[in-house]
Amino acid sequence: MAKLCVALDLPPDDAMDLVKKVRHFPLIMKVGPSLLIEGGKDVVREILSMGLEVFLDLKLHDIPNTVARAVESAERLGVQYLTLHTLGGREMVRRAAESRESVKLIGVTLLTSHDEEYISFLGSKGGTISQMVIKLAGIAEEFGLDGVVCSSKEVRLIKARFSLLTVVPGIRLEASREDQVRVSTPGEARREGADIIVMGREIIRSPDPAKMVEKVINEIAYSQ
Ligand code: C5P
Repeated sequence: MAKLCVALDLPPDDAMDLVKKVRHFPLIMKVGPSLLIEGGKDVVREILSMGLEVFLDLKLHDIPNTVARAVESAERLGVQYLTLHTLGGREMVRRAAESRESVKLIGVTLLTSHDEEYISFLGSKGGTISQMVIKLAGIAEEFGLDGVVCSSKEVRLIKARFSLLTVVPGIRLEASREDQVRVSTPGEARREGADIIVMGREIIRSPDPAKMVEKVINEIAYSQ
């Protein structure tokens, strides 16, 4: 069954209040740069000590040696997932994969903030966004990453070609028609074959986050 990952895009105290409210569910907690910078590794350790998994979403992109060292640091911290950009290059991805022991490395393909106009401005003759995503997912698989971040619309394309985990953000309980290309519901993402479904604001801004988490977990479970 797909796992739900809650993006803790909150200041440290608020993030920990939220974690305490939902800790009885089988969740992955996503810690991004802002929470890590403000809360430091204590926040990560506290979440891990509650028996929850941590998805460290740092989207690393640097020279191979620096990224390899960051992977080793993530191993020491004991997180379960770490993100890096496949656009960082083959050597960066290869060295990252070689440096990991148990942390699952998840490659970011193209950010949704990059559109086709930007890709062609960069000089790519790589084709459409989907073709670029497939190309970059190919690097993730070839050099030993465990999965990729993608939209729900790309999950089937990726699953048909690679044995990668698919991590899908851009989830809304009710996807509006005009948003359909980029946004999907938890059930839709699951039916497409998503392995990890990432939700932030709809959970963290909800007046009752535990109830919202339960609702999403049920929607995922009944969409098998
Ligand atoms: O939009 P929402 O608040 O649900 O976003 C949840 C998380 O998904 C955010 O932490 C954001 O960094 C991440 N995200 C991502 N890639 C996207 C869209 C969102 O990693 N294309």
